Amino acid sequence: ATMSKVEDFLLPFQLSREKLREVSSKLRKDLIRGLGKHTHRRAPVKMLPTFVRDTPDGTETGDFLALDLGGTNFRVLHVRVEENLQKVLKMDSQECAIPQEMMQGPGEELFDHIAACVAEFLESIELKDKVLPLGFTFSFPCEQKDIDMSILIRWTKGFACSGVEGQNVVQLLREAIKRRGDYDIGSVAMVNDTVGTMMNCGYQDQSCEIGMIIGTGTNACYMEEMRNVKRVEGDEGRMCINTEWGGFGDDGSLRDVQTEFDVEVDRTSINPGVHTFEKMISGMYLGEVARLVLIEMAKKNLLFGGETSEALLTPDSFETRFISEIEEEDTGLEHAQQILTEDLGLPAGPEDCEIVRLVCDTLSTRSARLCGAALVTIANRIRNNRGLTHLTTTVGVDGTVYTKHPHYSDRLEETVKALAPKCNIKFMVTDDGSGKGAAMVTAVAQRLAIHSK
Ligand code: BG6
Ligand code: GLC
Repeated sequence: ATMSKVEDFLLPFQLSREKLREVSSKLRKDLIRGLGKHTHRRAPVKMLPTFVRDTPDGTETGDFLALDLGGTNFRVLHVRVEENLQKVLKMDSQECAIPQEMMQGPGEELFDHIAACVAEFLESIELKDKVLPLGFTFSFPCEQKDIDMSILIRWTKGFACSGVEGQNVVQLLREAIKRRGDYDIGSVAMVNDTVGTMMNCGYQDQSCEIGMIIGTGTNACYMEEMRNVKRVEGDEGRMCINTEWGGFGDDGSLRDVQTEFDVEVDRTSINPGVHTFEKMISGMYLGEVARLVLIEMAKKNLLFGGETSEALLTPDSFETRFISEIEEEDTGLEHAQQILTEDLGLPAGPEDCEIVRLVCDTLSTRSARLCGAALVTIANRIRNNRGLTHLTTTVGVDGTVYTKHPHYSDRLEETVKALAPKCNIKFMVTDDGSGKGAAMVTAVAQRLAIHSK
């Protein structure tokens, strides 16, 4: 009897194939709005030109620095691209923690910290006297004027540093390095993590024309025909577009798929009304949606004998990684028992563990299906752009939700197969994805600059 009540309770999270088709067709219209010369200003899906016009052709070479900011970890890398090796080598790398307060403090402090991390890294690999070109993976929505000029539109995920929105991020970085005065950098290429991931995968597989992230946040980029990119001059060739699909629904278009729990997560976030789609999908929010569901189920006496705990009532106490752990095939229920009783102090019996596992399953499945529906929209757009009846393409993917969850990738592929029979989509997970990819973008930009001379 409890199980059927539980299933009823979770019904609003179940998205039928029909509903997913609707979501996909809404996104299709939003992609067009975002690309338009006049309609883009108020479009929820921003469709940002990246000034990346070509995927790698294998002739790129050189040594590069790469920065990677905006995912779980901030990293500095030294990357070597070797001709014909079909390989991008990571020579060295270093992780650098960004303290929580700094994520919401003055921007100058953030950039001073970044510059200090780079200094320390260069020192340790004895390259402080070299002036290396730098690829900067900066995983936030930016209005790019060119590959080396990138204005932050707004912070997303957990960041909210003052004095950065509306500013050129390259300039802020250069100024911070200048304030130190102990090293210098060469040309800079600014890259979103989706773009870095696509470019890294593109070095190994030339048909990789989509990059997708399902991690702290979610987003995708793809190669669009220049004739459709109305905001950049020229009709020839293609340009990579950073969709910023996390903002899908910010105009209210997803109201019918949002549940009361999604609305609550948005309301209590640091940026209400911003990134509606992302808040139903990505790692920064998934655990929080689960927590609110568990509280409500306990109140309705469907869980924990009607009890909650102080821990469960504390925001962000149900971490997204718990969902992956609880859904593990063999050890999941054991994990559930441990997490619920030890981490959260709840009176959880075997039946509670089963139910909590069902909740996790329901939320991660919804996330994978929504992402699948969005990916299908992009693949179909590429197919139509090229007048093809059938498209074969590769998606470069990264992000802890996709890579760490035991069933996420299968569920996403299932959705894609069901919704897009005319597309054959291959997925390719890349390690150190966007750091290497950012170096790749810098290398491709250099190759194109040399050729156009
Ligand atoms: C990393 C990429 O592997 O994945 C980052 O190098 C990206 O650029 C990140 O932002 C996304 O995943 P997460 O889960 O760390 O946000
Ligand atoms: C957020 C950012 C976007 C990034 C994504 C994944 O949605 O706005 O730029 O690509 O997170 O990290």
